[in-house]
Amino acid sequence: MVGLSLKHLHTLKTHGLKQKEILSSGQLLRGYLQDIQRRRQGFLDIAHPSDATKDILKYAKKVRGSFEHVVVLGIGGSALGVTALMQALKPLSWNQISGKKRGGPQLHILDNVDPELIANLDSILDYPKTLFVVISKSGTTPETVAQYLYYKRKMKKAVKGASYARHFVMVTDLEKGFLREEARREGFVNFPIPDNVGGRFSVLTAVGLLPAALIGIDILKLLKGASKGADAFLSAKTEDNSAYQLARAQYLLQLRYGVTTTVMMAYSSALYSVADWYRQLLAESIGKAVNREGKTVHTGLTPIKALGVTDQHSQVQLYNEGPYDKLILFLETKTFRSAVSIPKVGIHEQAFSFLGGVSFADLMHTEQKATQEALTQYDRPTANISLDRISEESLGELFVMLEGSIAFLGEMYGIDAYNQPGVELGKVLTKKMLLDSH
Ligand code: PA5
Repeated sequence: MVGLSLKHLHTLKTHGLKQKEILSSGQLLRGYLQDIQRRRQGFLDIAHPSDATKDILKYAKKVRGSFEHVVVLGIGGSALGVTALMQALKPLSWNQISGKKRGGPQLHILDNVDPELIANLDSILDYPKTLFVVISKSGTTPETVAQYLYYKRKMKKAVKGASYARHFVMVTDLEKGFLREEARREGFVNFPIPDNVGGRFSVLTAVGLLPAALIGIDILKLLKGASKGADAFLSAKTEDNSAYQLARAQYLLQLRYGVTTTVMMAYSSALYSVADWYRQLLAESIGKAVNREGKTVHTGLTPIKALGVTDQHSQVQLYNEGPYDKLILFLETKTFRSAVSIPKVGIHEQAFSFLGGVSFADLMHTEQKATQEALTQYDRPTANISLDRISEESLGELFVMLEGSIAFLGEMYGIDAYNQPGVELGKVLTKKMLLDSH
């Protein structure tokens, strides 16, 4: 279960928001819901098991035991969701666990074209035992195509004959794009990304679900949680709608106090990549030059990701004493999946008696509480997203809650939260520069 608490906002001296303004108003919420549904974006439709889920499960079952390495080639929304899933739901050192003990393939997510990264992966891969999952909604993203061209050549050399085709799976648009053409030409197994689901909203399509299923994540449970998140998102009462409340708090804080930055601070190493995923979602969705009427607005909330307790020794000085421009959104889990404790202290360690016998889970929770209390005393806005435990269900629910909050923010700012025109120019210039240099 995923809970949102905004109670720390109510007690601030000057930079707070009252509960009744966050919960205001049912009419506004219902209007936004209607607008969102009218836009026919698919992020809610995919929050349920479907025939596509069955196809993914069937394929994952068929290839179980055939590959030691699964490599995702993809970038942005085609990589961040699956990274978050892997980090949250598999042991943190999954790829380092020895083969038999691991009980599934290693998963490498190659979301960069850094030659050192590619060379390093080359040194690890055993090509005949490797499956490449090439993920791109457009099927034309140069970084992903570059990786694909490289590994296709490599695989063709390593695996002679037509059998190399079984080492590639395409996840891409049903109709358009180079990768779709490749899938047809080469006879690759392929999975579609629904037309109305944008990259950063696609974690619950084959983009996230296929690699997750390949490493043994229970995607049906993930979708069970997602369905719960979808129901909550559609609830017409502001008290029951966490996605709305979060968006409303972010919007009002910006409007009233110029709080333009949202720091998602995960108090769990396993959840750190969720903050990375959210960073893209918030940045690309809300950072826009024009509103839906074409008026120049330059909206945006700057996302920062942080890790508790680590960044208490790196970022918190700034959050407590720097500009009043940040909302700190704690992402926490009530329970950890491992129980380890600090031993009782000895005679020479009395200065640290407060640590003796304390569990590391309690230490994490206490430090988080203390950090939040300090922020409150510094009059800094904070809020909490709290998971009962890290599980497939809670992750599914969390993804939909956060996607829903972005949909609401889009309506509040009056902008299109689903496009990313500002990314195009860099792409065009890269292509031009490469062509000019030929
Ligand atoms: O959210 C988005 O649409 C983008 O960030 C894309 O995920 C990213 O640009 C990769 O695009 P594609 O999946 O088409 O390769």
